[in-house]
Amino acid sequence: KKDQFIMGIETSCDETAVSIVKNGREIVVNVVASQIESHKRFGGVVPEIASRHHVEQITIILEEALKQAAMPIGDLDAIAVTEGPGLVGALLIGVNCAKALAFANGLPLVSVHHIAGHIYANRLVKEMEFPLIALVVSGGHTELVYMKEHGHFEVIGETRDDAAGEAYDKVARTLGMPYPGGPHIDRLAHEGSPAIDLPRAWLEPGSYDFSFSGLKSAVINTVHNAEQRNEIIAPETLAASFQASVIDVLVTKTARAAREYGVKQVVLAGGVAANKGLRSALTAVFEELPDTELIIPPLSLCTDNAAMIAAAGSIFFEKGQRADMTLNGNPGLEI
Ligand code: KG4
Ligand code: ZN
Repeated sequence: KKDQFIMGIETSCDETAVSIVKNGREIVVNVVASQIESHKRFGGVVPEIASRHHVEQITIILEEALKQAAMPIGDLDAIAVTEGPGLVGALLIGVNCAKALAFANGLPLVSVHHIAGHIYANRLVKEMEFPLIALVVSGGHTELVYMKEHGHFEVIGETRDDAAGEAYDKVARTLGMPYPGGPHIDRLAHEGSPAIDLPRAWLEPGSYDFSFSGLKSAVINTVHNAEQRNEIIAPETLAASFQASVIDVLVTKTARAAREYGVKQVVLAGGVAANKGLRSALTAVFEELPDTELIIPPLSLCTDNAAMIAAAGSIFFEKGQRADMTLNGNPGLEI
């Protein structure tokens, strides 16, 4: 059987990315242009600026990917693109680029859900085995997803308010750190100890849902109360205490889901999967559960990229799923 080559295109937020993946598992090229520097001074992603950067970058990144791959477009089997969720203006750039490429070259078009992409980043590390549970933690999402086979996604728990990454970014802002704050809090947390007892939102017994807004408010209140009493709380103590609370809930619920669903694998996905504390806490817990294999992608595949879109697209392409020229960016797409 001849090799399969899928091009992935991702523009849902603030990364313009194009990748080519061989046989769904092997990265041929993975080009990512980050816009973080342009959004930093606004303390978050500005949608209009994101769209403009994508327009400027997309053809450059596309040409760079094809040059690095040293392969003609005609050798591709399909174009896979993020349909949603994300910023509508940002999504539209990738979707229209993918449609134009597919139309001009007579290639099949495959649409991919951004979160399915994050989950399939794991297939670039190791073959997936089912059933599995994916812990998806990013700036926009916090979800536990049960997969009984390829392409089957059942959300068994999700955040009821802030996403984990969003909570990280807001707490970081309170502590005066630049956007995105996750990596800064992560670094600071390792310099302090979790001496402050912050809340953990377990919710109803048995629930796999999450809630981080109460924790975020607790951190902000702790800072303000200390200021009023002219006390100073070490930022590393706050960061460590906040991180301990987030990780405790994420890890406990993931381990419980893994046991209840009797899964073969647990896979980690999304930008917050880059968190060192989360990675080591999950590793420690699953060392005690030897029947469940834990997969954690390298940092470059945790944050937004197009290799994960191509990896997911490869499976959907094999299943015969096709998008047509009516494909549109869908900011609220459900998995
Ligand atoms: O998946 P992603 O790149 O974009 C979305 O689809 O949201 O995730 C970005 C999020 C940001 O909130 C960022 O602060 C967070 O991931 N993040 C981290 C770490 N690295 C990135 N959060 C905690 N610890 C980290 N090391
Ligand atoms: Zn993402």
